[in-house]
Amino acid sequence: MGRAARIHSAQDARRLARRRLPWMVFDYIDGAAGGEAGARRNRAALDALTLRPRILRDVHDRSLSVPVFGQDMGRPFGIAPMGMCNLSGPGADLMLARLAARETIPLGVSTVASTPMEQLIDTAEGHAWFQLYFSGDGTGTFKLVERARTAGYEVLILTADVPEVGRRPRELRHGFTMPFRIGPRQFLDFALHPQWSLSTLARGRPQMANFLKDGYAFDRTESRARADWDTLARLRDAWPGKLVVKGVLDAEDAARLAQCGVDAIQVSSHGARQLEGAPAPIAALPDIAAAVAGRVPLFFDSGLCSGEDVLKALTQGAGFTFLGRVWQFAIAAAGEEGLQRLFEVLSSELSIAMAQTGLSDLRGIDGPDGQA
Ligand code: FNR
Repeated sequence: MGRAARIHSAQDARRLARRRLPWMVFDYIDGAAGGEAGARRNRAALDALTLRPRILRDVHDRSLSVPVFGQDMGRPFGIAPMGMCNLSGPGADLMLARLAARETIPLGVSTVASTPMEQLIDTAEGHAWFQLYFSGDGTGTFKLVERARTAGYEVLILTADVPEVGRRPRELRHGFTMPFRIGPRQFLDFALHPQWSLSTLARGRPQMANFLKDGYAFDRTESRARADWDTLARLRDAWPGKLVVKGVLDAEDAARLAQCGVDAIQVSSHGARQLEGAPAPIAALPDIAAAVAGRVPLFFDSGLCSGEDVLKALTQGAGFTFLGRVWQFAIAAAGEEGLQRLFEVLSSELSIAMAQTGLSDLRGIDGPDGQA
């Protein structure tokens, strides 16, 4: 049996990835802030939510598509922006871009992606959104915005929840830096994971590919703390396309964003990688939905691991969702086949859950109080 066929759930992908990836890489992807209580809190909140089973509704013909910014997406879930994806396997960024193109779902392209943004939007056949980190005094940041526009991006995601990079002890313990150094500890780690080392390192260490030219270097550890509401206003003026603000967990912030001309708000705790004490995003979602009152669409990410999780987020007020880590685990587990397999697994889980909750399509969901 091929490795991809062994993936029956996102947990399977994670388990297989754990065996194949060096500890440093697995813990960089899997880790969360501090003692990881935030990650556990969100998982517990997702598990505590229930879906409402409905019967006798003729749900044999189901559509998993949802509209976002006037375009029909193949699924109500996309690929969250993640830096340095090529660490999970050679060519991982391009695999994600091809998935986005095939399945008509958005690929979030990180500021610190390991493949240039131009190549990614091209491979994703336009289904790519550029994610922006404000950094330093903003000079380089606005250069990057211009570059994204020239490359043809129509959606910009400003990630606002990293004024300082969160401390993730699991990755720090392995000495994870970017670009990473190979000291004795890493050497041993890589030697014990030869499959990864021979395929990934043999192609050269993954790099922050958006900064290899242009005379602007991105320092991953540089403070991003100078961004404020004026920065957002400047960005709104500079960006003619759709503008999404990601990393929102507070209803007051969300209400203010809705007045600032943003086109969508992404409720997210960055996959619990930033503030350990943040509320569970899934628990914050209904209050944010109430505060925004339909003025702008809500997107959601953090901790989603199954089709049922996605459906739960939709019932709590999200119009669209993103998954992060699990895509990388699927690639680490079984390459591009593994990635496609995980997509099919998530789709199947969602479709079955829709049938069991009496839904033929996803437009019938009417928010936190239950389903239509
Ligand atoms: C991220 N995330 C992230 N977000 C962002 O806006 N820019 C980035 O460069 C990154 N980089 C990144 C790297 C890795 C390895 C991970 C796991 C995550 C956060 C990401 O977009 C998303 O918010 C979370 O991954 C969602 O949570 P799950 O699905 O991973 O639990």
